[in-house]
Amino acid sequence: MPHFLSAEDFSPRSVYALFRLAGELRARQEPPKLLSGRSVALLFGEPSTRTRLSFSLAATRLGAEVLTLDERLTSRAKGETLADTLEVLALLGVDVAVVRTSEDVIRPPALSPSVVSAGSGTGEHPTQALLDAWTLYEAFGRLEGLRLLVLGDLRHSRVFGSHARLLPRLGVRITAAAPRAWLGREEDLPGVAERVALEDVSLEDLLASADAVLVLRPQWERHAHSADAPASPTPASYLERYGLTKARARALRPESRILHPGPVTWGVEIDPSLREDPRILVRRQVENGLYVRMAVLVAAGGNFEPCGGGAVAGEGNADVEALGGDLPPSFEPPVREEGNRAFSSPFHR
Ligand code: NCD
Repeated sequence: MPHFLSAEDFSPRSVYALFRLAGELRARQEPPKLLSGRSVALLFGEPSTRTRLSFSLAATRLGAEVLTLDERLTSRAKGETLADTLEVLALLGVDVAVVRTSEDVIRPPALSPSVVSAGSGTGEHPTQALLDAWTLYEAFGRLEGLRLLVLGDLRHSRVFGSHARLLPRLGVRITAAAPRAWLGREEDLPGVAERVALEDVSLEDLLASADAVLVLRPQWERHAHSADAPASPTPASYLERYGLTKARARALRPESRILHPGPVTWGVEIDPSLREDPRILVRRQVENGLYVRMAVLVAAGGNFEPCGGGAVAGEGNADVEALGGDLPPSFEPPVREEGNRAFSSPFHR
């Protein structure tokens, strides 16, 4: 069973296949029960609203048995490792584990359910990057050549960790801007075209030349342990100094778009008056999360091979038309093969 722990686990080809599947699932009033007979465990060790609820609804609507575990009430609280917990889930017959953890990297043991990351420490949040990519793709009709400004706490954001590993391979040019204290290390994420300290540049100029801006929440809860904590911005001064104020939003073109993975702290990283701005896609991102997570769960549950996994990973600049041509025109429910719990892929028959 495949694991989806990093945005690098999604090849450009599989990304477009998952977009297609997510779109097909959204179009159906009654989604096919592609996970019937499968069990999906949600193991969350950090707070979550959108991610947890969308994974839970996604698994339920696809017909899976859903087991929701609050990590604090599991033996993790007694010191059991995540790897040992995953082995227990596998021994008890769980097929897919959706995991949110404060550890930066998830390392499944040899005997493990298929693991889907729902956010790992300051490391990655691959399905958030995938749903943001789909939201951008829908808004612009393409990803190739888009100029995306990522604005905020780059150093502590796992969302940025996944965007930087996904979007450049799909042809998106990322400019990343942060207060100097939160810039992070360039060498960790080489796909980012440009990384600038907000103290050195005009944010208005960056906004004016972006097709879209993705604003990140300052990860205050992760700063206490950070060596640079004393030099960090404060919530009270953040908006005026570094945030998307009403005045700065005027520098964004009317056809540009504003994204945020949520939760938004209105008045800190974005001015509350921009909540109803026609360019903002925050609500759309939440809605898209459900269908993207359905598609990923189907892929993890074995019903769908996202076009050969990593076969074309790293190629970059994917030709959307060519990839689209490889995909089937419409979605068909897969046929379950009795005996070995394997499913034939709806796209590979
Ligand atoms: C993000 C997270 O938890 O990493 N939220 C989310 O899953 N949509 C971003 C954040 O908390 O700022």
